[in-house]
Amino acid sequence: MQILDEIIRDRRSIRRFEKREVESEKLTALLEAARWAPSWGNSQCWQFIVIQDKEQKERLAETLTKKNPATLSVLDAPVVFAICGESKKSGYYNGQQITRYQDWLMFDLGLATQNICLTAHSLGLGSVIVGSFDHEMAEKVLCIPKGYEIVALLPLGYPAHAPSAPKRKESRTFVHYGHF
Ligand SMILES: Cc1cc2nc3c(=O)[nH]c(=O)nc-3n(C[C@H](O)[C@H](O)[C@H](O)COP(=O)(O)O)c2cc1C
Repeated sequence: MQILDEIIRDRRSIRRFEKREVESEKLTALLEAARWAPSWGNSQCWQFIVIQDKEQKERLAETLTKKNPATLSVLDAPVVFAICGESKKSGYYNGQQITRYQDWLMFDLGLATQNICLTAHSLGLGSVIVGSFDHEMAEKVLCIPKGYEIVALLPLGYPAHAPSAPKRKESRTFVHYGHF
């Protein structure tokens, strides 16, 4: 097991995958990592769909534009997770929104997704978060019920490439002490 800061630093978005299946114990470990993510008031609004069927992946790939670098990843990956959540749970109390930000679902799903991506990397797997696709079309493909959102797709599998890290900003450009 690598140490956490290496896992965080070395994780990359992986868009091409080996033809190898992902073991079911590893899929369980990824979903378990999501389960332990923090969430607003422990609301745990997340729902995950595990997609392994080729035709279902083909339908999902059609929801991405040809220009999206992850379009082929959805087809190529042995597994795609659809990251979904129940609306109006996170950031709400008795059905009332309690902060200026309407729904904290995006925030909580982001935390759960990062847990999955980091755990995947620590297990020798790669993944890429896909946020740019036709959400309405994907909702139909995956039969998402009313009151639930599909936020992201996450193709994952054994990496077939090792991309170098895209540059990060220097921390002095975004860290402030005391005030902005
Ligand atoms: C919310 C979100 C949405 C993203 N959507 C896409 C996408 O639609 N297509 C894609 O190829 N990559 C997508 N990415 C991956 C980013 O491009 C990638 O994380 C970024 O370039 C940094 O590279 P790294 O993940 O290898 O460090 C997304 C990442 C995040 C966090």
